[in-house]
Amino acid sequence: MQPNASGYFGDFGGRFVPEVLVAALAELEREIEIAFADRGFWEEYHATLRDFVGRPSPLYRTERYLAGISGVPLLLKREDVNHTGAHKINNTVGQALLARRMGKKRLIAETGAGQHGVATATVGAKFGFPVDVYMGAIDVQRQALNVFIMQLLGAQVHSVSGGTQTLKDATNEAFRVWSERVEDTFYVIGSVVGAHPYPYMVREFQKVIGVEARAQCLERYGRLPTDVVACVGGGSNAMGIFSGFVDDGDVALWGVEAGGAGVETGKTAASLGAGSVGVLHGSRSYLLQDGEGQVRETHSISAGLDYPGVGPEHAFLKESGRAKYVSVTDAQALDAFYAFARTEGIIPALESAHALAYARDLAARRGADDVILVCLSGRGDKDIAQLRDR
Ligand SMILES: Cc1ncc(COP(=O)(O)O)c(C=O)c1O
Repeated sequence: MQPNASGYFGDFGGRFVPEVLVAALAELEREIEIAFADRGFWEEYHATLRDFVGRPSPLYRTERYLAGISGVPLLLKREDVNHTGAHKINNTVGQALLARRMGKKRLIAETGAGQHGVATATVGAKFGFPVDVYMGAIDVQRQALNVFIMQLLGAQVHSVSGGTQTLKDATNEAFRVWSERVEDTFYVIGSVVGAHPYPYMVREFQKVIGVEARAQCLERYGRLPTDVVACVGGGSNAMGIFSGFVDDGDVALWGVEAGGAGVETGKTAASLGAGSVGVLHGSRSYLLQDGEGQVRETHSISAGLDYPGVGPEHAFLKESGRAKYVSVTDAQALDAFYAFARTEGIIPALESAHALAYARDLAARRGADDVILVCLSGRGDKDIAQLRDR
């Protein structure tokens, strides 16, 4: 769906930013309109995804993970085999190409799990931009390997020690830094969040996941899946894969949020499941907030899902009923993580393990005539040290 002229998907989205950023966002919006209508822009984007990222990513039918539950086939869209190990690179390639068109001189980014930071550092090295990445101090600790990789790629990583020291505070800091240097700086946002046009732009760069997956399903199996399942932090891998199927009314769309210790405990990051409507990082959507509108502390074992907000298009899909949102606890995600590694020979990212955990629940309600498609958003190498040290 296209957002309206003010950047809303239904009641959600918009542009709630300080005055200094209004002109920068309007400039970006104008550039997107021109670039998206330019065939040459998309040719370079797709050529880069093909030769640098390794797309199309495979569609893979699992062998053993669901054995004994029901006969339902489980397909994976393998974003874990992309260069840099996750879907995040699809988006950073697109934004780096835009930054270059706009004559910007440096890139900044926020990161949670570090995957988006690595993906931004990677395109910075490839296209010749200096990169500054902002990361919460807790995430710097739990994703130490990715911090080292970003530095290896030439990026400066800034540890943010304010607030909860996770993705929300890293994003606050990146917005603050951007507002001080809008003229020469391109802010590469890592998910379908932020003020208009970011949620729309990032979705368009992640849509390749769903477009490829739909064509691969039809070509290989002559049919569409019954269910599409993806984890939701800010929501970019989910919006990416959902976009391929949103017009296929018979395909159920499932977004899986991080339940943390359980939504009923309050120690959770399930913004759609346990939050209410408010404004965070420039757009109106669901978020975890207290009675006074203060953003609540979040909890998830997975740094990439540990965010109190969610992209406005997901809020719209929830309200319209087109997609359903559920949550999976840390314990369920961990169980799926180990089971999946041992039965399939693939170590999933902890984020993706949330989608895999829900797929197992769903499988019990499906049969051999159905097909479940999961977006395997990333690989788990970055999580291994955190799990080893538990
Ligand atoms: C592998 C992986 N999957 C999922 C996410 C969550 O982000 P999003 O909801 O934008 O896809 C992240 C975020 O860092 C990630 O690294």
